[in-house]
Amino acid sequence: MTQALELPLQMRRDGFDPVKELARARDDEGVVRVMTPFGVLAYLVCRHEDVRRVLSDPVRFSSAPTPIPGAGDMDEEERAKMRAGILIGFDPPEHTRLRRMLTPEFTGRRMRRLEPRITEIVEAALDDMERAGKPADLVSHFALPVPSLVICELLGVPYADRAEFQERSARLLDASLTMEQQAAAQRDNRGYMAGLVARAQAEPGQDMLGMLVRDHGDDLGTDELIGIASLLLIAGHETTSNMLGLGTLALLRHPDQLAMIRADPALIEPAVEELLRWLSIVQSMPPRTTTTEVEVAGHTIPAGSLVICSPPAANRDHAFVDDPDALDITRETAGHVAFGHGVHHCLGAPLARMEMRIAFPALLRRFPGLAPAVPDEQVGFRTFSPVYGLHALPVTW
Ligand code: HEM
Repeated sequence: MTQALELPLQMRRDGFDPVKELARARDDEGVVRVMTPFGVLAYLVCRHEDVRRVLSDPVRFSSAPTPIPGAGDMDEEERAKMRAGILIGFDPPEHTRLRRMLTPEFTGRRMRRLEPRITEIVEAALDDMERAGKPADLVSHFALPVPSLVICELLGVPYADRAEFQERSARLLDASLTMEQQAAAQRDNRGYMAGLVARAQAEPGQDMLGMLVRDHGDDLGTDELIGIASLLLIAGHETTSNMLGLGTLALLRHPDQLAMIRADPALIEPAVEELLRWLSIVQSMPPRTTTTEVEVAGHTIPAGSLVICSPPAANRDHAFVDDPDALDITRETAGHVAFGHGVHHCLGAPLARMEMRIAFPALLRRFPGLAPAVPDEQVGFRTFSPVYGLHALPVTW
């Protein structure tokens, strides 16, 4: 690995394609050294085959967080409390224990029960956008509130709290906040989740927290329940909302693909998968730490190194699909890594898919003449954000 290929992890990205350096790193080296925002060097894995191999091997590539020297002043006890229930940062068997309890909450049957509520939430957001009049910001009227309200539904957030909950979850995503403000927003969110968990423990309802308390109340501690609720909000809100915003723009910029969906609504399923692959909004996966010396794409990586997988590079790999830079909703996309792969494969994928499969067609039905209200160069991309997307999308119809 050459010194010249040392890149920052958070590279500027504009438009739909992964940055050129990333594509080059995938095609030339396969693995490239990157500098994380914490000032620690990591190895970025770029090829589709290697990404899947790393993600399917939690023994050699551990998801347990490595303490970052000098970051924060938390003691061991507080760190354990803040980590509890955040299954994304555990390895088997602890991960398996938590995941087993949560998986039944995301089955097709549970999702079908949510479907009518998701449809109502989507239609209400569209009413709101229509009332606002054109031009309206699709992100604030549609892409942000829909996933936030779906998570309210999932977690059983009382109706009276929902406006405040939405503000709080939007604040968690506010890129203009300082590190201190972000930490304060996270503490505030955790405080709210603690109240929600206490309510579920006192009087378990039919929502996910109620079910977890009823079925696993003896096994799951309060901190774990708070961690689960916080993780679901963080993992489910920013991702789905950015897919809705950026996905809409992608379709508007590809009228041929949009016309196909309008003509045949069944195409929404492959279209959602192709948008997931083509946009790959999760810029880099949560880091893994090597538990032993490993070899990836012919490079030797020492034990104790940070390894990060790149979905945008992997999903546009020529070795995975033909003509990878073309958006083609009719192509076969099985095996894309937009939701990850292996034991940590996105738990909320069935929910995210359902939200998108309901939301995009409803939007297109409601506004047959939907179009961006600003020229291409004025669209504000979240250029450095770990979850890529749009700050705003002014639209007309
Ligand atoms: C894990 C992407 C929506 C909950 C993941 C991972 C990815 C991902 C890449 C793997 C992380 C890793 O391997 O370390 C996405 C995308 C979404 C989305 C692109 C939307 C389009 C959701 C939703 C929820 C959710 C709606 C729940 C409400 C989770 C959870 C995990 C996870 C709990 C951790 C699973 C585990 O560690 O076993 N997601 N996600 N996600 N996602 Fe999602």
